[in-house]
Amino acid sequence: MSVVVVVGMQWGDEGKGKIIDSLAEDADVVARYQGGHNAGHTIFLDGKQFVLHLIPSGIFHKNKLCVIGNGVVLDPAALVAEMRAIEEAGVNLRDRLVISDRANIIMTYHGASDKSREKGSGFQKIGTTGRGIGPSYADKIARAGIRTCDLRDATFLKERLQANYREKKKVLKSLYDTDLPEFNHLFDELMSYRETIVKYIADTHVLMRDKIKQGKNVLCEGAQGTMLDVDHGTYPFVTSSNSTAGGACTGLGIPPTKVDRVLGVIKAYTTRVGEGPFPTELSDENGQRMGEVGHEFGATTGRPRRCGWFDLVVARYGINLNGIDALVLTKIDVLDGFKTVKVCTGYKHAGKIFSDMPADPVVLENCEPIYTEFDGWSESTIGIREYDQLPDNARRYVERLSALLETPFMMISTGPNREQTIQLSAAFKS
Ligand code: GDP
Ligand code: IMO
Ligand code: MG
Repeated sequence: MSVVVVVGMQWGDEGKGKIIDSLAEDADVVARYQGGHNAGHTIFLDGKQFVLHLIPSGIFHKNKLCVIGNGVVLDPAALVAEMRAIEEAGVNLRDRLVISDRANIIMTYHGASDKSREKGSGFQKIGTTGRGIGPSYADKIARAGIRTCDLRDATFLKERLQANYREKKKVLKSLYDTDLPEFNHLFDELMSYRETIVKYIADTHVLMRDKIKQGKNVLCEGAQGTMLDVDHGTYPFVTSSNSTAGGACTGLGIPPTKVDRVLGVIKAYTTRVGEGPFPTELSDENGQRMGEVGHEFGATTGRPRRCGWFDLVVARYGINLNGIDALVLTKIDVLDGFKTVKVCTGYKHAGKIFSDMPADPVVLENCEPIYTEFDGWSESTIGIREYDQLPDNARRYVERLSALLETPFMMISTGPNREQTIQLSAAFKS
């Protein structure tokens, strides 16, 4: 039995969905611990693509319990749409999906505030997904949020929502000239989703505690990535939650002493969506090729992802912050055919060399990456399932990365499908 946390190691979209779906085979519970429908976790099943935004990536395995934790911010419309899409694919969600009674709800005014802020001139544009994530977490921290447990009592819900609505309406109008729908419209809409959602709400702390006590295998699913963490990422160009491993404890109510392992999902190159520093970003044909071959378009917003070489400074930072026990390398097949493959070993700025992540985004923005080069491989790695079958230079790339990072790889992903995976060691303790 073990509790395993899976975190993204870069700026999100590392392939967490595919990996969690693969690892879920041996899990009893898959639990999402933070973020909201800003996340897009892609899973391919029998040639069909599913993009999950809120529902944990274990949902396509029969008999696995999927938990949406208290650390997640939930948009009721997005949740219900996703539930319907999954049910249409033949998955029975009843008894499979449980939603924390302590999760904060994203309201229409959160989305409006997110979009207005991004358009307005007063704030630094972050390039958010426009899903209301930041404003919703802001209300949570300000103790003004509305939680899933509040859906159970319509009278209380209405009072609380009215107080919030009055404030948001004034602020949005005066600062951004943004109008909100009438209160009754907003309330009725929320009530229309309530019936569907409320049946799934439970005390997930108790549930998680019991599952851990029973010795079940628990997989904790992070959204976004280490560099988007609100405390440790490239602030202010981050999301508004703790996507790092610690977020699994606060976002699910699991004591730190119960976490057995932390796995980091890392792409064989780097991508980022939205604004913010990205030292190894490429604006040449190599970056373009990564984007094309890797289909690097946001799974949530469809925006093109910025692409660049693998960054060891980012990887080391993530390993130390999250306490990574083993890594999962994804999308190695996207590097097939590159004559040389580069890896950033440090940053140069104002005559100084950084091997640790600087806090200041202006410094990071102006850092020059220091590269080491590897010979590429011309053979295809797509769908390879045995390590020995990887081309020599691909193996050298993997082994050199592992040595430089002093961390083993437990899995290598060679394509978007579940079975396109090289398994090097087990995720859970036997
Ligand atoms: P997540 O947010 O970390 O779950 O990642 P996304 O789903 O947003 O983006 C990862 C993209 O890469 C998706 O389109 C996946 O289907 C795809 N993908 C995952 N692993 C691999 C891989 O090993 N090779 C290739 N070519 N595609 C992959
Ligand atoms: P998954 O789980 C990649 C980025 C946005 C923006 C910043 C803040 O699929 O890896 P937000 O809407 O969260 O306030 O936007 O964070 N971002 C992601 N980038 N993958 C994600 O999730 C992301 N979720 C948010 O592009 O730069
Ligand atoms: Mg994604």
